[in-house]
Amino acid sequence: MIILTNFKAYPTGVFQNAKNLVQMHIDAQKEVEKTKENIQFAVAINSLDIQSICDAFAGTIDIYAQHCDNASFGSSTGKILPEMLLQMGVKGVILHHSEHRFSSENNYAELIETINYAKKTGLTVVCCAETVEEGAFLSEHSNADFIAVEPPELIGGDISVSTARPELISESVADIGKGKVLIGAGIKTGVDVQVVIEKEAVGVLLASGVTKSETPYEVLLDLASKV
Ligand code: G3P
Repeated sequence: MIILTNFKAYPTGVFQNAKNLVQMHIDAQKEVEKTKENIQFAVAINSLDIQSICDAFAGTIDIYAQHCDNASFGSSTGKILPEMLLQMGVKGVILHHSEHRFSSENNYAELIETINYAKKTGLTVVCCAETVEEGAFLSEHSNADFIAVEPPELIGGDISVSTARPELISESVADIGKGKVLIGAGIKTGVDVQVVIEKEAVGVLLASGVTKSETPYEVLLDLASKV
């Protein structure tokens, strides 16, 4: 069961604050492992912090990038190369997040090529989807390891998807497949996570519940408390 925290570009999730927050995730992992198995915390780091975070923590916790491009070494400018991420010690990458979608015209060709290239390079790929239908299409037409279904209207809000739309979780698992679904948007508590796991998703993708909390370490322990 994966608890993936997206640091986004929150001030509490960049530069030295990012290092502090990653350490809290590592500490929470050690605490949770004393009594529970199969709970894996992971972090998704702003592109400009990845090198420093990997230097400090690669191999201690799964580190994800928040985006990458379908590009390799050579004449490409401003691109985030999957090979470079892998060589830094990155575990995986989030793609097509609501805040960084590939195309507003639903032209999925470039996204699918990027998913498949990142996967071929060796990265674990979490592809985001705003609807069950989009998630099912991308699951069927790409090699994504996970599909993270996140209703955009609930992202960053006070009402979690577990409360507002629990049926979306069941529909996602049914249409995308068991073992592939992560759920996000407003996830903040152990109860939110419990609902997700009871409906057979395999993890959660969250951000503000941890990055904007005054007590992120305690939130991390609570997220794992009902599993
Ligand atoms: O990447 C996860 C993010 O989109 C969810 O945000 O703040 O609702 O947990 P939040």
